[in-house]
Amino acid sequence: MIPADLDEVLRLEAENPSPWSREDIEREIGRYDRILYVTVDETLGVIVGWCCCRFLDDQAELLKIAVLGSMRRRGVASGLLTLLLEYLAGRGVQALYLEVRSRNFPALRFYRKHGFAEVGRRRRYYFSPDDDAIVLERDFAQ
Ligand SMILES: CC(C)(COP(=O)(O)OP(=O)(O)OC[C@H]1O[C@@H](n2cnc3c(N)ncnc32)[C@H](O)[C@@H]1OP(=O)(O)O)[C@@H](O)C(=O)NCCC(=O)NCCS
Repeated sequence: MIPADLDEVLRLEAENPSPWSREDIEREIGRYDRILYVTVDETLGVIVGWCCCRFLDDQAELLKIAVLGSMRRRGVASGLLTLLLEYLAGRGVQALYLEVRSRNFPALRFYRKHGFAEVGRRRRYYFSPDDDAIVLERDFAQ
């Protein structure tokens, strides 16, 4: 992702329950310990998915992955995650973590399909609406 992608990513974010603001995203771009990807549909010429991840030594945290509502269930997020996992493995990362709402069933199914396992739960971590966070780990050794 480059700064010129920002407006399109913001439009995509606006569809999500916890959208990031322009400032949120600007803060992430260009940091030495972050990697951000976008997926562009070459036919439509629009950004249909994006992700943002931070890494430190042998651990990483997926901060965001989102796909345009009309483009879901077509493998967009799977493609982003595959690319990200390859990048992180190349940096020597051993484990990727993330938090997800306990009632975000599509995301939970997505992560489980991609080998993430539950390693914790943070009670009432989210608000509007209240929800627990499930902490998931993708262990690169498995
Ligand atoms: C979760 C999300 C990123 C998945 O993106 P996607 O591009 O639709 O995912 P994929 O097409 O790569 O799906 C891969 C697999 O995940 C699972 N999956 C994805 N969406 C699902 C859904 N709505 N219901 C059930 N399983 C689902 C399926 O196993 C799917 O494989 P299949 O289509 O062959 O059955 C997308 O739904 C999204 O952007 N949600 C809003 C933002 C969000 O919740 N992000 C995660 C926050 S932690």
